[in-house]
Amino acid sequence: LHVGAVAEAKATAAAEPLLLNAVRGEDVERPPVWLMRQAGRYMKSYQIICEKYPSFRERSENVDLVVEISLQPWNVFKPDGVILFSDILTPLSGMNIPFDIVKGKGPIIFDPIRSAAQVDQVREFVPEDSVPYVGEALTILRKEVDNKAAVLGFVGAPFTLASYVVEGGSSKHFSKIKRLAFSEPKVLHSLLQKFASSMARYVQYQADNGAQAVQIFDSWATELSPVDFEEFSLPYLKQIVDTVKKTHPELPIILYASGSGGLLERLALTGVDVVSLDWTVDMAEGRKRLGPNMAVQGNVDPGVLFGSKEFITERINDTVRKAGRGKHILNLGHGIVVGTPEENVAHFFEVAKGIRY
Ligand code: CP3
Repeated sequence: LHVGAVAEAKATAAAEPLLLNAVRGEDVERPPVWLMRQAGRYMKSYQIICEKYPSFRERSENVDLVVEISLQPWNVFKPDGVILFSDILTPLSGMNIPFDIVKGKGPIIFDPIRSAAQVDQVREFVPEDSVPYVGEALTILRKEVDNKAAVLGFVGAPFTLASYVVEGGSSKHFSKIKRLAFSEPKVLHSLLQKFASSMARYVQYQADNGAQAVQIFDSWATELSPVDFEEFSLPYLKQIVDTVKKTHPELPIILYASGSGGLLERLALTGVDVVSLDWTVDMAEGRKRLGPNMAVQGNVDPGVLFGSKEFITERINDTVRKAGRGKHILNLGHGIVVGTPEENVAHFFEVAKGIRY
């Protein structure tokens, strides 16, 4: 009876999501597709929610809203990945770093961290205490999506989080974090260390609650020169990957850095499973530089979605051809830009899902 029940459960369980098969290098008929920032302001349905709930923090910290917003692109486009609606800064308040995300201004850190005494006040992140809504939302998303797509979690990389926390918000020249890096490196290292252990724990928490793959955003790592990347970003990325691989060896980890053409080989040294390329590097060249064992994602300029439908189709085909068969997740080279026509996004998904190798 027991054996029969197990066999039956196996037969009725939905197949693994295409995205996981592709990352593992299994034979797939087409590349899976999702878009960074696929939930957000280019969607009318999201704008309606924003009118009713003007606070970004409320939209991203209430279970029902998080689930509803995460599912908006899923309901319309049926992507192969459904990313949690949240922000890389969401863990900060649980680490004793008050922040807000303000319309028109972006992220604001109320008391930017620039001294050893302030770093001492930063608490290690305990996700189950600070962001229980994230675990609840992921659990619900996993049920809703039911393996027809992969549920994706994400975290900010230590250097990128530190750049917001030290600068006090978005930055152009990154002068405050570089002042710290190049005059008081120990202080910055102790902050990066807290982010690394906290984000490793956050990835594990997301995986335990339903995330089937996780993306690390090191959006601003490329503000560092290669030697400085090796000191202030790489070791902490590696620490997150090593820690997570110990407890969750099967969980695919994707790494994204914007403007990463000069750092590709170094990104691969982190031990991640997938490197997400921006559009400053040719897909065929990126593939060659990363080697056959690394899966690749991304690469299509988000601006392409402002082009004609024929142009969008051409660029998708071009990227897929250059990436070659398997180990490729079709995506943009950065998040969808506000103002992107929704019908062009629909076209992107339609063409992408119609591809056959
Ligand atoms: O991809 C998705 O659909 C998931 C949602 C998501 C958001 N932020 C929602 C959001 C993800 C994955 C992020 C990650 C994030 N947040 C990054 C890394 C990715 C990247 O773009 O490089 C960064 C650097 C942040 C920090 C941040 N949050 C910025 C710079 C901004 C923009 C400020 C602005 O007003 O344009 C945010 C706000 C934010 N996070 C928005 C969204 C949809 C826009 C504000 C809104 O919807 O009200």
